[in-house]
Amino acid sequence: MKNTLHKAAFEAGKIIKEYFAGTFKIESKDIISNIVTEVDKKSESKIIEIIKADFPEHNILSEEIGALETDSEYKWVIDPIDGTINFAHGIPICCISIGVEKEGEIIYGLVYNPMSEELFYAEKGKGAYLNEKRISVTKENNLRKSLLVTGFPYVSKNCPYKPVESFKRFIDLDIPIRRLGSAALDLCWTALGRFDGFWEYNLNPWDVAAGYLIMTEAGGKVTDFKNGKFSIYEKEILATNGLIHNEMLKVLMNL
Ligand code: IPD
Ligand code: CA
Ligand code: CA
Repeated sequence: MKNTLHKAAFEAGKIIKEYFAGTFKIESKDIISNIVTEVDKKSESKIIEIIKADFPEHNILSEEIGALETDSEYKWVIDPIDGTINFAHGIPICCISIGVEKEGEIIYGLVYNPMSEELFYAEKGKGAYLNEKRISVTKENNLRKSLLVTGFPYVSKNCPYKPVESFKRFIDLDIPIRRLGSAALDLCWTALGRFDGFWEYNLNPWDVAAGYLIMTEAGGKVTDFKNGKFSIYEKEILATNGLIHNEMLKVLMNL
């Protein structure tokens, strides 16, 4: 399974790199700003072709194609390009994200940015790695000295959760915040220690399946906004080094 994951990521990575900053077709999805490029689809077909060749009986849940259901206990959760808007604008902050779920538990996660050649990988119980070097979250325990990262939903008007209000609460505490545009990389960069904490609302399973395992295997803590158990199928994600988790929870309370 480990080999299949790596092969799928490298082969899809070649496609993404070949088209990066070049020309390709772009279409809008549900709203005009939520786009998909022909490269997302090519990357997805390559990943699924490689997985199906080795594990034809496994379930697939992939952003553009949806669910290919079987009665297997395994499910591959795929984002063929996370950070499509960045990719479409020639910004090299985007990646392939693939998580493998077994009976509801994520057991493998891989996130690969072919432009920077950073490959994040974790297997349940075996730690998290960047290009084969073990990684871990920061030891920062003061929220006011932390660097945070977040993202905003494509549609934020009438959103039950208030993305701008949560952002305001943190900047009002004079805390620096970044917005990369790829939730999978937000999680991996937090796992690596570039950031101390990440929060976002309204993500999809394919955005977080791999990054969630990479974060927890790097020693991080991942919950919803009420400190409840995290699920890739729910909307809220708070991922931190563990030490600033409670302070971030307090800020996110009663939004
Ligand atoms: C998006 C990115 C972004 C997040 C969006 C996602 P996509 O994924 O992860 O950071 O803020 O909510 O939809 O559309 O580039 O695969
Ligand atoms: Ca995504
Ligand atoms: Ca995507």
